[in-house]
Amino acid sequence: MRHVLTLFELTAAEIQRVFEVTEELKTQWKQGQRQPLLAGRVMGLLFEKPSLRTRVSFETGMAQLGGSSLFLGEDVGWGTREALSDFSRVLSQYVDVLVCRAKAHRTVESLAEHATCPVINGLTDLAHPCQALADLYTMREIHGELAGQKLAYIGDANNVASSLLLGCARLGVQFAIASPPGYDFDPQFVAQVKQEHPQMEFLETRDPIEAVRDASAVYTDVWVSMGQEAQRDERVQAFADYQVNQDLMQQAAPNACFLHCLPARRGEEVTDQVLDGPQSAVVQQAGNRMHAQKGLLAWLLGAAS
Ligand code: CP
Ligand code: NVA
Repeated sequence: MRHVLTLFELTAAEIQRVFEVTEELKTQWKQGQRQPLLAGRVMGLLFEKPSLRTRVSFETGMAQLGGSSLFLGEDVGWGTREALSDFSRVLSQYVDVLVCRAKAHRTVESLAEHATCPVINGLTDLAHPCQALADLYTMREIHGELAGQKLAYIGDANNVASSLLLGCARLGVQFAIASPPGYDFDPQFVAQVKQEHPQMEFLETRDPIEAVRDASAVYTDVWVSMGQEAQRDERVQAFADYQVNQDLMQQAAPNACFLHCLPARRGEEVTDQVLDGPQSAVVQQAGNRMHAQKGLLAWLLGAAS
């Protein structure tokens, strides 16, 4: 039983394989072809937090592959009506794959521990692996071969940044992060990544200009993630010098793209000028959520040729 709760569960070769399947499916999709690779399969979605991209791209992707999906609301009693172990054992008999967005990472781990079908993390406080897959796939579309590229992440060392760091380490992409004091990666997580990837090129700095030097992609995410609303004032103050604006973009490689997982807070972590500017690839990136997840589903469920 394979679960995808973080990118630790996927090897570099497996990520590359998912990208190959993604590319094939995206090419066919552009030509109007939708191969029913997952006909008769059912995906269950359990979301404890709001979502546009993750929910809709999984549902539409599954439909395009000939399968169907069930968005399960509060009425199924997830975590309230019965023990998560009972819930997971029962539900996973009915569906072929589960996608879960949870407040606490431990929740998706518990779901997976008891599930008899694969569980995919659709975002937790610790990780957002499907986002990182789409992001790296987008960099590959824009700049080609990933190994040797550099991604600079400006802002909070959060769930999105963590999955990106690991994805970059896996695929030989240099990673630099500029974050203010108190908003760094958990050193234990970094140690785990470094242990698996002793050769990785990784820079942690307080200086956004240093981070973006020679970067082929400049990435940022919101300063206040879902669930952190009470910390809004202190976070906005702490991140004030970490905005991605045109001046900062000019310090990156001339052909650098701008990436953001979205939703964005325009005027906070990124200016309108950058988000709507010629270097911005955020719409393509969001579109690739669907394509990369189709690749992941087809591979994970053994339907990719
Ligand atoms: N990027 C992302 O996961 O967006 P949603 O929260 O809309 O799913
Ligand atoms: N870091 C953000 C990402 C949203 C897609 C959050 O967790 O809210």
